[in-house]
Amino acid sequence: MTETKTGQAKQTVSKSSAPRIRVGVTYYPEHWGKARLGIDIPLMREAGIQIVRMGEFAWSRLEPSEGRYDFSWLEEAVNAFGQAGISVVLGTPTAAPPAWFHQKYDVYPRDEWKRPLGFGTRLQRCLNHPVMRESSRRITEAMARHFGHNPFVEAWQTDNELTQNYCYCDYCAKAFREWLADKYGSLDNLNRAWGTVFWSQEYSDWEQIPLPWFAKCGMAHNPSLQLDYRRFQSDATVTFQQEQVNILRCLCPGQKITHNIMGLNDSMDYFALAADWDFAAWDNYPITPWGENGMRVPLGHDVTRGMKNRAFWIMEEQAGITGWEMMGPQTEPGQIRAWAWQAVSHGAETILFFRWRSCLYGTEQYWHGILNHDGVPRRHFQEVKQLAKEFGELSPFLSGAEVRSDVAIVHDADQHYGYHIQPQVRGMGLWDQILRFYTPLWRWGVNVDLVSPAADFSPYRLVILPGWYILSDEFADKVRQYVSRGGTVVMNPRTGVKNIDNVCVQIPLPGLLRDVAGITVAEYSPMAEKVGSVQFRDQNTASISVWADQLLLDTAEPFAWYRDSIYAGKPAVTCNDFGKGKAWYCGTFGDEGFYHIFLKQILNECGISSWDGLPKGTSVRTLYREGKRYTILVNLEGQEKQLSLPGDWKMLLGEQGLNTLTLKAYGIAVLESDRS
Ligand code: GAL
Repeated sequence: MTETKTGQAKQTVSKSSAPRIRVGVTYYPEHWGKARLGIDIPLMREAGIQIVRMGEFAWSRLEPSEGRYDFSWLEEAVNAFGQAGISVVLGTPTAAPPAWFHQKYDVYPRDEWKRPLGFGTRLQRCLNHPVMRESSRRITEAMARHFGHNPFVEAWQTDNELTQNYCYCDYCAKAFREWLADKYGSLDNLNRAWGTVFWSQEYSDWEQIPLPWFAKCGMAHNPSLQLDYRRFQSDATVTFQQEQVNILRCLCPGQKITHNIMGLNDSMDYFALAADWDFAAWDNYPITPWGENGMRVPLGHDVTRGMKNRAFWIMEEQAGITGWEMMGPQTEPGQIRAWAWQAVSHGAETILFFRWRSCLYGTEQYWHGILNHDGVPRRHFQEVKQLAKEFGELSPFLSGAEVRSDVAIVHDADQHYGYHIQPQVRGMGLWDQILRFYTPLWRWGVNVDLVSPAADFSPYRLVILPGWYILSDEFADKVRQYVSRGGTVVMNPRTGVKNIDNVCVQIPLPGLLRDVAGITVAEYSPMAEKVGSVQFRDQNTASISVWADQLLLDTAEPFAWYRDSIYAGKPAVTCNDFGKGKAWYCGTFGDEGFYHIFLKQILNECGISSWDGLPKGTSVRTLYREGKRYTILVNLEGQEKQLSLPGDWKMLLGEQGLNTLTLKAYGIAVLESDRS
């Protein structure tokens, strides 16, 4: 293994005055009653639990009938936890409005057929409905007045896992038209921007503009309307949260505000939602009945850290078997501890397991907690106890440590929306594109920041722009400046295809970035699963699929050529010197071997070091603090792994010392070395 790290861009892992890494749980006092609190609190203390989240689904108990609040039971729980040294996150309960509320008010969201999505589960509310908005403000204010000065309440979680408000009701239609009028100023502007002359869709009255309702034979609406609909509903969700945040900021001085995002959910603009939080948090379930999340776990950590560029929390961490009607696999001994350490290695500072105890009733009976239905502490409890002890022991070293990255991957909601609206070909989804770059970098232990287009690129040596499909003038200029000042960018197929109205540009691709890339896309070939191959400059070959751009060299040099298909012999990957920097254009999607050759070349040229020879399934991340470097290795698999490590390091946590290291099944090692 070789390693010569040269860290640059930094993300602060902790800014609090008493930083610590710690363990918590979600707890539902309304499910268990007061008597059980007397058993659970001592058990939590024994396990080393330092924080609980409560209240996020308890609206029917907090406001049993309209305007009649009862906070006594929650306050009792908050105080009992607080007095036991366990701090509290309170959730606003707006993800599950009660039955009495729906009986009185029809705030149900409508689907594309305008059918109401009624009572019986949760999220059955339209975030644009005026009554829902008002009720959300009311319950938030009542809770905030009650708990805003409670010393044990450390933070608030707004709602729960907010995603796009895909609702098609009349309130949404009205709000959408107002949003459009505000954006475009006139129907002429809107008609021009959207190209409504296509299929005679020119609007002469705002009232004529539809939502993307179900249409004849399920045909797709204008892509420009679809893009604006998504932006509008994202804004609506942001405003919905903002109304809660404004109340909490005013009435709860000193208490922090966050939200639990669904990781890689891309139905809304999470960067915009994050603007109102003090720190970011996400819900991490590596293995569910629906499959293993694999690389989406570390990517989810980095995406979440990128929301605020600082330490984040796991608001829900998998505690055991997950499942509703069907169950996922049992977690193996050590696995939940390994996942938690993996989160810390990506910059998480507080990890709350979901949930303390499996619920006896309701839809989520089989989403298992640390304790099972019988409430008896067993294996998972012991694992959490061990983890909390380790976190306590290592906090003096790891709290306040920073993730430093030389590499940024840029993503934003518009790009996600663009590929959802028109996937074009199988395999082109933006997360898939991102993972093609992210996976090898992760395997080589290279820290990566997932940043928004508004981020400062100057600290990064390498900026990757996976499929930057909807390209604005401003962003193209920003990339141009970054490269001309010495930065390196990597572009993918479909760069610059659309303007910000989701209309195809009428200049050769890659559109506004053509001069930077130094190539012209002469034509392209959607390949989907069809496999082809390329040959690199060093004669190595690799497989490709999904897409192939035929590239004409303007000023760029070729780095790989197609070996087969109608493009045989034509450049597939190029590199262009632009100002003081370099722009790589990758006209296709490759297999693992492809990215090994392609990315290693770029890392070498950028002077970014990487680890070689790490056993598969081993996570290696590096944190930095006060002249020291902390390398956290996590074995994510059930087989023992052997590694040899260069350099001088001290083992703070781990199974074995000297210059070789054994990682047992799901084993962890934390190494300290001097920063070089
Ligand atoms: C999360 C959600 C929790 C719980 C959990 C298990 O997505 O935030 O409330 O539902 O999944 O299903």
